[in-house]
Amino acid sequence: MEPLRDGHGRLIGDLRVSVTDRCNFRCQYCMPAEGLPWLERSEVLSFEEITRLVEVVGEMGVHDVRLTGGEPLVRRDFPRLVSMLAALPSVHDLSVTTNGFLLERDAEALVAAGMGRFNVSLDSLQRDRFFQLARRDALPQVLRGLERLAEFPEAQPIKINAVAIRGFTEEEVPAFVELARQSPYEVRFIEFMPLDADHGWRSESVLTGGELRELIDALHPLEEIEREPSATARVYRFADGHGRIGFINPVSEPFCADCNRIRLTADGRLRTCLFSLNETDLRGPLRDGASDVELEQIIRDAVWRKELKHHIGEPGFIQPERTMSAIGG
Ligand code: 5AD
Ligand code: SF4
Repeated sequence: MEPLRDGHGRLIGDLRVSVTDRCNFRCQYCMPAEGLPWLERSEVLSFEEITRLVEVVGEMGVHDVRLTGGEPLVRRDFPRLVSMLAALPSVHDLSVTTNGFLLERDAEALVAAGMGRFNVSLDSLQRDRFFQLARRDALPQVLRGLERLAEFPEAQPIKINAVAIRGFTEEEVPAFVELARQSPYEVRFIEFMPLDADHGWRSESVLTGGELRELIDALHPLEEIEREPSATARVYRFADGHGRIGFINPVSEPFCADCNRIRLTADGRLRTCLFSLNETDLRGPLRDGASDVELEQIIRDAVWRKELKHHIGEPGFIQPERTMSAIGG
């Protein structure tokens, strides 16, 4: 079948699926303290509906599937969805982004269900500062979850993602560097993007990957590792051979030109960019009995109009209404 291609010639090979808009944390850069009005249960795609859509895009060459939220592990019976997706021949790479809070409970079930790779979001290694940022006193629980996960060789390499915020993350650098050097985890910093519910993002609050790299290089010299074309992270190894560290720089070094991703929200809307201002409803047609061919056509039409790039930092940039928690990272 014709591969899935956008109007700018980019091939689409990666689907991010938000399985729930709910979360057990309230990270400052993502959600307001009081939470958000959650979707009704009936509005959220069932596991069968998600699987059907993953199969339809799989036919068009989308082989990488990442499950996100909100917090995916709060969705009841989540490992069952993992086993349904892992069983699809079109899914070559199945991964999850989680805040780690429920990993102590679920790591074993997820690995057994066929989850291939894990990204754990972790922004501070100090308990009080973790609490300040995530608004939950959960650092010990997350660290226990990571340890549990590390018991499974199938889950390696485990990635830790830290959002880099000026005035906050600088102080975290030495501890993350030590973690990257002494643990099996690969630490990656991701630049703060304007997807926060409070609309508090300012370009000044982005601590860039370049700045972080300089800070880290001064502690322990780094050597760049060559990256794959559609890889978003720039990965470095410590020159003395102890561990690696990565930088995802969507603001200071946009990688839109190589973007091969689309996103499905928990309520079944297709988003062709994190910063899309419009989305395409797939749940309606799905529930109205659309055939695979009809769904395929709706998806192709939407993907054809995929945004060329984001406009963060440019005059007239409009932050999307949805926050990261309602899009899926
Ligand atoms: N900017 C950058 N990263 C964000 N994340 C959530 N909100 C933002 C934001 N505003 C991250 C989470 C997680 C992934 C899903 O996206 O920390 O690692
Ligand atoms: Fe939850 Fe992730 Fe948003 Fe934090 S960033 S509130 S963990 S969805």
